[in-house]
Amino acid sequence: MKVLVVGGGGREHALAWKLGQSPRVERVFVAPGNAGTDADAENVDISDSDIPRLIRFAKENDVQMTVIGPEAPLANGVTDAFQEEGLKVFGPSKAAAQLEGSKVFCKNMLRHANVPTADFHVFRDADSAQRFVKDCYEDSARLVVKADGLAAGKGVIVCSQREEVLEAIDRIGRQREFGDAGNQIVIEERLDGEEVSVLAITDGRTILTLPPAQDHKPALDGDRGPNTGGMGAYCPAPILSAETLGWVEEHILVPTVHSMKRSRQPFRGVLYAGLMMTSQGAKVLEYNVRFGDPECQPTLIRLKSDLATVIEATIDGRLEEIGPLEWDPRPAVCVVMASEGYPGSYDRHRPIRGLDEAAQLPDVKVFHAGTATVDGQVVTNGGRVLGITALGATISAAKLQAYTAVKCIRWPGAWCRKDISDKGLRND
Ligand code: AMP
Ligand code: GLY
Repeated sequence: MKVLVVGGGGREHALAWKLGQSPRVERVFVAPGNAGTDADAENVDISDSDIPRLIRFAKENDVQMTVIGPEAPLANGVTDAFQEEGLKVFGPSKAAAQLEGSKVFCKNMLRHANVPTADFHVFRDADSAQRFVKDCYEDSARLVVKADGLAAGKGVIVCSQREEVLEAIDRIGRQREFGDAGNQIVIEERLDGEEVSVLAITDGRTILTLPPAQDHKPALDGDRGPNTGGMGAYCPAPILSAETLGWVEEHILVPTVHSMKRSRQPFRGVLYAGLMMTSQGAKVLEYNVRFGDPECQPTLIRLKSDLATVIEATIDGRLEEIGPLEWDPRPAVCVVMASEGYPGSYDRHRPIRGLDEAAQLPDVKVFHAGTATVDGQVVTNGGRVLGITALGATISAAKLQAYTAVKCIRWPGAWCRKDISDKGLRND
């Protein structure tokens, strides 16, 4: 069959690469893709937000299945639009994608389904939110202030001082820093602990939980500095034992999927639970409605089952027919190489050298994110540029191999965190 992957980051490169390995898949298109997807698949020059053109392409090119990578098209109803045209598409409906698109929707669902999460309150304007913080909260320093809607990962402000809380409310509600995403403000209790991502593929009834992964969101070593889209990830994350993962399935994933089904917004696609491992157990920080980026890269490099078959069964609502997924027992580590200046502003079109050298190393796959090809030369074209992913007998071995590949690759201003996966080494 012919498959279309929508998106242009590292996650989409990993999806296209894995789908291309399926004996059932004849061609993989990626819209808009990057230099890496152009090499491993075929790029199509259509933006991931241009739903009518994506549909036209799928029809004209006999695409049997479309896989949506990023959250924005899902929140904008790409799945519903494809389905209305009778096209098979992997990803939740617009209604179900509210789990990521609206923090108020997500928190209310969690509360109704009795899923552990931080205590919270919702406000429609800055005045009432600030009044509440001043009058009602005993520990008003340790709060998290969130804009309700999608804000490219920036609408969450974790505070340690009361002044910061009041300022965060002002930025979201009065200065409208995140636009309409700030129409409602969520204020929640700040949780302490280590974060872990648990992703599951579900057709709305059956749930296939993937091995847990850990992302590294802050820009600098030791989890310092500004937040980014994710500077690296590894899988599996030993912080979750098999027993704890079973607990997470029973108390978090199952009640969520059931609650969505009961409210007639069945969830089909990838359900990504961002969890905080607190002293009282796992609590949900957020849901995302798609694969994590970069978590997808070290996860899919380990997947031995046929991804196309799993995705098709999910779309068709017959995931119960798919047996347990098969995994390479070896852990994988993905190190993101970024442009100078990221997560702030950065230049583009710096030539990247050493990609061939890195590709020759065993157990290494270089996934592209912000790259493009200009006059036959691969150049930088984004903040997160590459996700160097490696397998190893242990987490330390995978880490060593990933950084060996990183050393082969260079462009002016390239940088990466040096401690990706160290959190996992304690239990390796
Ligand atoms: P979210 O987009 O809701 O996942 O928030 C982004 C990041 O903010 C999370 O990955 C956490 O690091 C942090 N965060 C969100 N909510 C909380 C909370 N209640 N307590 C502590 N940190 C939080
Ligand atoms: N790695 C974080 C995310 O995909 O949202």
